[in-house]
Amino acid sequence: MTSFTINGRAVTVDVEDDTPLLWVIRDEIGLTGTKFGCGIGMCGVCTVHVGGRATRSCITSVAAVAGAAVTTIEGLDPAGAHPVQQAWLALQVPQCGYCQSGQIMQAAALLKDFPKPTDQDIDAVMSGNLCRCMTYVRIRAAIKQAASVLGSDATHG
Ligand code: FES
Ligand code: FES
Repeated sequence: MTSFTINGRAVTVDVEDDTPLLWVIRDEIGLTGTKFGCGIGMCGVCTVHVGGRATRSCITSVAAVAGAAVTTIEGLDPAGAHPVQQAWLALQVPQCGYCQSGQIMQAAALLKDFPKPTDQDIDAVMSGNLCRCMTYVRIRAAIKQAASVLGSDATHG
């Protein structure tokens, strides 16, 4: 049994300690916005926040998040209106969409560390989030737009 919070809700799951967090999120808790890609920490589509830090849920055991606060794309903002999500919509970033929840979670974490990110900051942090549809140019633009909004709005973190 492992207990943690997900999107602010306390949960206890009865699975083996080494079960990947990704499968607990999708199959035990039923939140399917977090996707499976490579399963080995190399593509970023499974990215969630653990204690506010971007984390690859496919290579994180559920035991590793005992007592921690996990946030998925469903919980990034109560109304789905985090500045990163708003910028994604405004610039129509997604194509097929499969990688995008991971991209958004990675970008939201990036902006905590780099409130005014340069192209180099963005490339360094986002390079592990792959997009087979090549939306990278729009992702970079949307991150900069979200940064400008966050710079004048202290209500999102
Ligand atoms: S599925 Fe987790 S990094 Fe690819
Ligand atoms: S939008 Fe299709 S994989 Fe990124």
